[in-house]
Amino acid sequence: MDLVKIKQIAFETMGSKSSHTWKEKGNKYYHGQRTANLIKFLRMQILPDDSNYDQILTVAAWFHDIKNGDIDHAEKGAIKVRSILGKYCTEIELENICRIIGRHDDRYSDRSSFSVYEKIHQDADHLDHFGTFDIWQAFIYTVGHGHTFVDVIDWLKNTRPTQDQKYRDELNFKISKEIYDEKAAFVRFFGDRMSIEGNGGIWNAEEIIDSMKGCND
Ligand SMILES: [Fe+2]
Repeated sequence: MDLVKIKQIAFETMGSKSSHTWKEKGNKYYHGQRTANLIKFLRMQILPDDSNYDQILTVAAWFHDIKNGDIDHAEKGAIKVRSILGKYCTEIELENICRIIGRHDDRYSDRSSFSVYEKIHQDADHLDHFGTFDIWQAFIYTVGHGHTFVDVIDWLKNTRPTQDQKYRDELNFKISKEIYDEKAAFVRFFGDRMSIEGNGGIWNAEEIIDSMKGCND
């Protein structure tokens, strides 16, 4: 496959759009690029000697959310990708790319029929929504929906942690769950610090005061 050309098509179709009015321009183009990189990392850990599907996984990642924002976006995305990449892939490549896209959002039914490649895609896609991205989304959602600074702190401190178990359970591989745990710990830390600074407090105030002892400046 001509990945340079296909990436250019991804940018032309998604680079200046957003999936929701309150989300940033190009959100699903950049999410697709990050997902492809996360897939590379996970594939190297899970299937270190199998690079056979790397190009399929990369193209599926770039385009998987092309119809995000629509109902049944995964199935509609697969149909859309079939229509725009037909000239650039073989029938078998297109079949594999569209199968990944069409089922990527099914995290709830029995996934025993899903291939390891589909599961790697699912985990990479999911993991891109957590950590710093959790915080980014919380901020833009707040502005786009007329909520307040205090609402963000409340969400980070009280709502977001209640979702951890659900999101963790939706991941397919142990390494994905470990990555999730690390990202979730960062978000909890950020929420703790924001709840202090958001009330005019100083993070680690006592340590700062201690470090000043004996200093006359
Ligand atoms: Fe996605």
